[in-house]
Order: sequence, then C-alpha cells, then structure tokens
Amino acid sequence: MSAGGRYRVRPGGRLVGRLRVPGDKSISHRALMLGAVAEGVTVIDGFLEGADCLATLRALRALGVEIEGPAGGRVTVHGVGLHGLRPPTAALDLGNSGTSMRLLAGLLAGQAFPVTLTGDASLSRRPMRRITEPLAAMGARIETTAAGTAPLRLAGGARLHGIDYDLPVASAQIKSCLLLAGLYAHGHTCVREPAPTRDHTERMLAGLGHAPARAGGRICVEGGARLHGRAIDVPADLSSAAFFLVGASIAPGSDLRLEHVGVNPTRTGVIEILRRMGADIEILNPREAGGEPVADLRVRAAPLRGIAIGPELVPLAIDEFPAVFVAAACAEGETVLTGAEELRVKESDRIQVMAEGLQALGVAARPTADGIVIRGGTPGGGTVDSHGDHRIAMAFAIAALRAAGPVTVTDTSNVETSFPGFPAAAAGVGLGIVAERGGDPAAEARE
Ligand code: S3P
Repeated sequence: MSAGGRYRVRPGGRLVGRLRVPGDKSISHRALMLGAVAEGVTVIDGFLEGADCLATLRALRALGVEIEGPAGGRVTVHGVGLHGLRPPTAALDLGNSGTSMRLLAGLLAGQAFPVTLTGDASLSRRPMRRITEPLAAMGARIETTAAGTAPLRLAGGARLHGIDYDLPVASAQIKSCLLLAGLYAHGHTCVREPAPTRDHTERMLAGLGHAPARAGGRICVEGGARLHGRAIDVPADLSSAAFFLVGASIAPGSDLRLEHVGVNPTRTGVIEILRRMGADIEILNPREAGGEPVADLRVRAAPLRGIAIGPELVPLAIDEFPAVFVAAACAEGETVLTGAEELRVKESDRIQVMAEGLQALGVAARPTADGIVIRGGTPGGGTVDSHGDHRIAMAFAIAALRAAGPVTVTDTSNVETSFPGFPAAAAGVGLGIVAERGGDPAAEARE
C-alpha cells in the first residue's frame, strides 16, 4: 500500500444513529485459509474487503485455490483439501498484514514446495522468530533475515511432527500459526497460552469438523484430519467498532448503535476497560453467528475517569489501545497501562507513536517500557503523524470529537487495511472528517 493520505477533522460534534462497521479481520483471514484447505465449498458472508484480507485472498489464489468475489461481502472459496495447494510462481506479498504472514507461514510450513513470504516496510520490521523457532522445532525449514524478520523463505518438503509448546507471549497469531502447521504434522501439536487470546481459529476448526482439544490453557490439534467447507457469517469487527465506542463515549450528546458486532469474550477487553472508566455501553440482543457470539452495542456519552489497566486485560484488548488512549486523554485523572510491551511490535510502536501524537495535541502522555501514563483533560488541535498505522490514524480522527481545535492526521492510507470506507462511515454518524488523498512527504521519506 502506498504511503500518504490525510484526514482533516473538525473539532466537536457528536455521534448518533446506527452503524455496521466492516467484517472482522481475524475471522475473515481464517475463513479464507481454512476454507482453502477444507474439502468442498466455503461461502463467507460479511467478509472484510480490506487490504490485509485481500492480501491473504491473493496469496491463496497464487497457491492454486479458486476463489470467487469478494462481491457485496461474499466470498466463495473452492476448497482444495489439505494437500491440494500448488506451488506459487512468485513470492507471496502480504503487504502490511502480520496475520497473513504468521498464519500462512504455519499453513505452508508442511507443504511439499518452497515458498517465500514478503511484506511492506512495516511488516518487514516485525519479529518473526516467535513463529519460525517453534515451526523449526516441528521440523520445518524456514529462513528469516539475520534480524529475524521477513522475508520468510520456507524450503518445503519437510515432514512435520507435533510439539508441546509453551507460548512465550500471549499471541493468537503464534498459537494459530502452530495449530495450522499442526494440521500437517504427525501426531498432536499442543500449545499452552500464558493468558487467553482470541480463539477464532479453534472455533472455526470446530465448525469445519475438526475441533481442537482444549483444557485449561492448553490447546491440541491432531494432524491429518479432513476439514469440511461450510457457510461462515463474519460479524462486524469489534476492533473497528472500538473507535466508535470511544467516540460516542467522549462526545457529549452521542447515542450510537453498532450492529452485529462480534463479542467473543477473548476480544471484549475494550468494553470492560471503557466500562471501568465509566462508559455507558449496553450489549443488546446477544446471539450467535457462525460459531461466534454477536450482539448490538448501544453507547451513549458519559463522563470518563482515568484507571489502572493491568496486564490481564492486555491480550483481550490488544488492538484497541490506540482508541483506549484517546478515551484516557479525555477522562478525568490519570490512566496507567502496564504489561503492554507487545504494543511496541504492532504495525507501529503503538506506545511511542501514540505518546507522540497525544503530546502533539497537548496531552500529558508519558511512555514507559511496558505501557503509558496519560493525564486526561481536553486535547488541543494539531497535526498528528500516524506513521502509516491504521489504528493510530482512526484513533486520532476520533479524538477530534473532544479537541479544542481542528485535528489533522497524516499518512492515513493504511486505514484501508482494516476499515475501508472509514471516513464515510464516520461522517455518516456525525464526525466532521474530510479525507484527502495524495502524498505525505514525511511518510514517503520513510518508505
Ligand atoms: C491477531 C492477533 C493479534 C492482533 C492482530 C490479529 C489474529 O496479534 O494484534 O491484529 O488475528 O490472530 P498477536 O496475536 O500477535 O497479539
């Protein structure tokens, strides 16, 4: 994705009405990958047509999978079975998408053919030894750069065997990578999580007829089983809804209903955190869709107060901290986050980049090694560099609802990775946002 793009956001306003944000990114990736190696047809509805999931889709097509769509949120995957993938003719470019790279590395580690996985400048900086080391322990042959980063070169032709692995970090990407590799391994592949992380892979494997065994924090999958394609309904992404939960909470007079949102308990840390801060969020009409809990969320403006957020909530809200930091900047008192060093290795260093952005708006924000301390108040106007990180860009756009002056956010084009149409969706419920295309000299210099 090219760098650039800019948001100009008017200060003030409120969020009212109804909104269905785009489909869940994590579930969309998994539906494509598992549908591809299942037998029969998998019809995915509510698919996220964002650049990250489209990178997975293109990669699977390059591996010989016939995929129709996306059209109106529907994708039809003609599964090739566990051993039906074909050698690609070139390296697979996964753009900005860590989920594509880490999960596909697991799916591809046990194939008969070699394959190379590449990504953009941000993805090429992110740590990959966390997956290549356990995959190597299963028998895979994978090379990284000397720094342990992409490109990943998978030699192919390896015979994988199951391992029993304690995850060194609470990461659903590592867990899912190993479970996918485990489908191709001899025996059982077991992972133990230090804390619960999103369990979409486990739920979807169960839905396709091959449920992993789960006991305590240990999850085991047996190699060699067949998956059966089926219909998958993807709920709206709570990680995208989170910007609106924060926006409606901080903007006086707001009353917003977010529809058909995934509320899997391994993802709802943001609701818990915002409620502890005083947010008024109702979970309405809870139901199930495609093996995942779903609900409508009603959020009304409420005075927020600063809180301490400890490590136990971090994996359950891992992608929502940019939005949470904006809530903290508008709360009364201090918010202190600890145990969140993983935020430093996301699409950007989200501790540092958020601290700098908040400071640019005059907010007292102090980064720490594993978190941040934010003193709430009224943010001022100003210009914030998102460093090409989609969630940072959206968080600061939302901050304008409570800012004393206009907010400009630069390097916003990567919002397309997870939330295509964000400016129009946000404007539709009341945010005074104008999106400008075109280059940001600062962003282009970094590429
Ligand atoms: C994801 C897991 C999380 C999250 C990412 C999506 C997934 O990463 O940050 O956006 O789909 O499994 P980690 O598991 O590395 O924390």
